[in-house]
Amino acid sequence: MAHIIGGITTSHVPSIGNAIHRGEQQTPYWKPFFDAFKPLHAWLKTAKPDVIVVVYNDHGLNFFLDAMPTFAIGAASTYHNADEGWGIPVVPSFNGHPKLSWHIIEDMVEHEFDVTSCQELKVDHAFTLPMKLLYPDAGEDWPVKVVPVLINSVQHPLPSAARCWKLGQELGHAIRSYPEDTRVLIVATGGLSHQLDGTRAGFINRDFDLMCMEKIVSDPEALTRFTNRELIEQAGSQGVELMTWIAMRAALGSHVHEVSSTYCAPLSNTGGAVMLLEPDLGAVQMAAE
Ligand code: DHB
Ligand code: FE
Repeated sequence: MAHIIGGITTSHVPSIGNAIHRGEQQTPYWKPFFDAFKPLHAWLKTAKPDVIVVVYNDHGLNFFLDAMPTFAIGAASTYHNADEGWGIPVVPSFNGHPKLSWHIIEDMVEHEFDVTSCQELKVDHAFTLPMKLLYPDAGEDWPVKVVPVLINSVQHPLPSAARCWKLGQELGHAIRSYPEDTRVLIVATGGLSHQLDGTRAGFINRDFDLMCMEKIVSDPEALTRFTNRELIEQAGSQGVELMTWIAMRAALGSHVHEVSSTYCAPLSNTGGAVMLLEPDLGAVQMAAE
């Protein structure tokens, strides 16, 4: 059977791509953020995931405002990146895992999550930069297969936090019911607080971000009680990317422990946060019985 070995959260600001390209990882500005990945690199060496399920939001590279699925899942054998206009280098393509993708899609639809299945999907900075951060030495060949899971956080109406929690619960169930021995890591990208537009552009809410980082470990359902209006008020209009964290956390099961946690703000316009969580397998087993 497949099992979920961990969950990672990270911000995905596009300027990370330029910092990597220019070799600025150890400059005073970027060092705290890039150093947050050192314990994750050590963890990955022993955890050795076969597949990474990347929960993220597309920003207009693949889906645009004319047709925006609320939830979508990739089912391609290859995922290409492309120029989004940020001026960051395009990264090598990723190998998908169509069999696991279709297993997840079939399970989700059977359990009333009518996701859009994508046999072609271009992956944007929210997908590629976290992968670069996790595997800085990957070169042309990524060491894992990927399954993209997309949550609309761009075009209103957006799914609620509570709905994303349920999506994540079903995602966890779908992964755990995959019959082949597969080590799956779930990476949620986005957040924390940021607002890129309007009179509050540049808005960051440190207290809210720190509260989210605590609750995502100890009481994640508290985060599902926010309405989208409240989330936007508290975290800025793009802070709703927190949805990806909530879905990832629900997939991990009832209890987790924190392996590492870093907050550095501002990171570009964003409350930058990186966390690594491991499921408490005893609790997951009890929930399944
Ligand atoms: C920034 C953050 C994002 O999540 C994004 O998608 C684009 C830009 C930023 O902080 O600059
Ligand atoms: Fe974003």
